[in-house]
Amino acid sequence: MATIDIRTAVPGPRSVALLERRRAAVSSSPFMVTPLFVDRAEGATLTDVDGNTYLDFAGGIGTVNVGHAHPEVVAAVRDQAGRFLHTCFNVAMYEPYVALAERLNTIVPTAGPRKTVLFNTGAEAVENAVKIARRVTGRAGVLTFEHGFAGRTYLAMTLTSKPVPYKTGFGPFVPEVYRLPYPYLYRSTFTDEEQYVDHLLEGVHDFFRTHVDPASVACLWMELVTGEGGFLAAPKRYVQGLRAICAEHGILFIADEIQTGFCRTGTMFATEQYGIEPDLITLAKSLAGGLPLSAVVGRADLLDGVHVGGLGGTYCGNPVACAAALATIDVYQRERVADHAARLGVRLRQRLHGWQERFPQVGDVRGLGPMAAIEFVTDRESRRPARDVLQTVAGRCLERGVILIGAGTHGNVMRFLFPLVITEAQLDEGLDVIEGVLGELAS
Ligand SMILES: Cc1ncc(COP(=O)(O)O)c(C=O)c1O
Repeated sequence: MATIDIRTAVPGPRSVALLERRRAAVSSSPFMVTPLFVDRAEGATLTDVDGNTYLDFAGGIGTVNVGHAHPEVVAAVRDQAGRFLHTCFNVAMYEPYVALAERLNTIVPTAGPRKTVLFNTGAEAVENAVKIARRVTGRAGVLTFEHGFAGRTYLAMTLTSKPVPYKTGFGPFVPEVYRLPYPYLYRSTFTDEEQYVDHLLEGVHDFFRTHVDPASVACLWMELVTGEGGFLAAPKRYVQGLRAICAEHGILFIADEIQTGFCRTGTMFATEQYGIEPDLITLAKSLAGGLPLSAVVGRADLLDGVHVGGLGGTYCGNPVACAAALATIDVYQRERVADHAARLGVRLRQRLHGWQERFPQVGDVRGLGPMAAIEFVTDRESRRPARDVLQTVAGRCLERGVILIGAGTHGNVMRFLFPLVITEAQLDEGLDVIEGVLGELAS
């Protein structure tokens, strides 16, 4: 039985009326990827205020891996909300914060022994991981990457690569941030990945001669698979090489698992597939099933290396969000979401590679496991980025009941971030819609 149920033109009249109110009352700055207003959401589906039901291939930008409104998460939230909503952990403590730290310390694959500190957003987690690294090493330098995205606060924005729209007009930025190349085989001059990795690793040594003394660098911040940057998956040997270079120079390795975490790549964390142990890992998004919560997890000596009062904030580790996170992690583990995600990844990639053969606009298919994306180009030979193709495909798919989001430095990448509890039938249904639209464009 089909999941998608479209009853009105999209957007429907109620969404249109709300859109007018939004335009009048809300800043025009936040993105508006779709013109939809949501009434309710469940599993991999979203129903708008006009009664149209969509397959959600955006998943709150990777925040509801466990599915929209998972009943166990909702029950945990209700239970905690019924007792108290907030005290501020700095003032009067509560068990869910401690229990969540204990839980994360057992599952997050950093070097150990481990400790945890909680925040609200991904950007905050990244900011605080860097604060910890600077404080403990006594060094100022931070290494980041091209195609990186760390959020919209000042340091996170500085670490972020894409100037438009994330940085335009907002400078000056945070000092002592240095940017390395991120492997992007499809747009490189290399055809052989091994040679490319050798070249990039050699480049890091040059970088230390030409840009910054490694002895003054506190940390390297890295997405193992870029999120906003278009699902570029760093080759394992590059990451391992960087890890070794960091160890050699006393530079802390911070793996950002904010988008890759919680089964998105087919394992609980992408780090597991890279054979490294970062010093710190940042988490957010699908940590709490849809509530705002983030964490820095890592070596206990680092987490304890900051003076009292240096980390924290009024809402950090809110009890309702902690309760949601505990229930969410239960679901990941009990329902073996990573295994299901890995199977979905195989199924998805088969389809995407088939499209690459059939449709000249599908230039590259990449990512890690179910964290997969396609890059649209005008044609195979020139590989010119085709942002308009993404926009046309996303627009037509929305009218037919599939919500899609883009990514990538050129804005021409379609990334798949469906809730990982989506069924194989629902995945196929959504992919059929996209394939139909791609077929129309090709004919
Ligand atoms: C890898 C990564 N890091 C950090 C962030 C920032 O998270 P937030 O938007 O919660 O501040 C994001 C958000 O998309 C992300 O994908």
